[in-house]
Amino acid sequence: MTIPIKDKTGIAKMREACAVAATVLENLKPLVRPGVTTQDLEEAGRDWIARLGARSACYGYQHGSRRYPAHTCISVNDEVVHGIPSFRRILREGDIVSLDIVVWHDGYIGDNAFTVPVGPVSPAVEKLLRVTREALDLGIRQAQVGHRIGDVSHAIQQFVEANGFSVVRDMVGHGVGVSMHEPPEIPNFGRKGTGDKIKPGMTLAIEPMVNLGAYKTKTLSDGWTVVVADGTPSAHFEHTVLTTERGPEILTIPRPAATQVST
Ligand code: MF3
Ligand code: CO
Repeated sequence: MTIPIKDKTGIAKMREACAVAATVLENLKPLVRPGVTTQDLEEAGRDWIARLGARSACYGYQHGSRRYPAHTCISVNDEVVHGIPSFRRILREGDIVSLDIVVWHDGYIGDNAFTVPVGPVSPAVEKLLRVTREALDLGIRQAQVGHRIGDVSHAIQQFVEANGFSVVRDMVGHGVGVSMHEPPEIPNFGRKGTGDKIKPGMTLAIEPMVNLGAYKTKTLSDGWTVVVADGTPSAHFEHTVLTTERGPEILTIPRPAATQVST
């Protein structure tokens, strides 16, 4: 499958959608504290998405015969991705919470994720967050015109494994645009110089999912929540990136406070 190249209009619309996704995420981060439920975060996310004139790309998202039931994905500790918010899930000090926000705005999709610690966390978990975040930066830095997707994958895997953690194999990053998942797939593991060539005008969701223990995952009986098989904590950081002749540009950057609310 060929990788969609966005034209000027598509890029402008991707900028808007990604700014909305990032602004929603930015507004959720400070709400993460002990005693808050993942349903509280869901409701705040749902309201921010609406306030910014967008729609959740997750709500009603179809996978097989199931439809995702919430506006946000909120994954705690050993939950990797697609955690379903719940009023029964109360955050406690030492937890980590991955917030994954995907919005639809004017026909285009912005996708980003961030893992937030709940108060102080153990040194090992603190390192997990730092390494995953740095792995995302290193991956983005490889998203240069003329490079290949495998260069991104390799940079992420190499750094994560050198730090003693593992990259999830069962889920991958992806192209993003008029739909949530477009070509190419962007695994967080792979070999340099392999895969599709990067050209200007691609919009790529790069998203390392990193486990403190082994990489194996399984899906819970709710049909959505992906957890680490050995029960160790998992972190997830994601940006949507535009490839340009001048290098990668992160599109999921929040708007300044004064322009956040579109009326
Ligand atoms: N960022 C997630 C993904 O790319 C969001 C999925 S929304 C859900 O898979 F509906 F599947 F949960
Ligand atoms: Co994604």
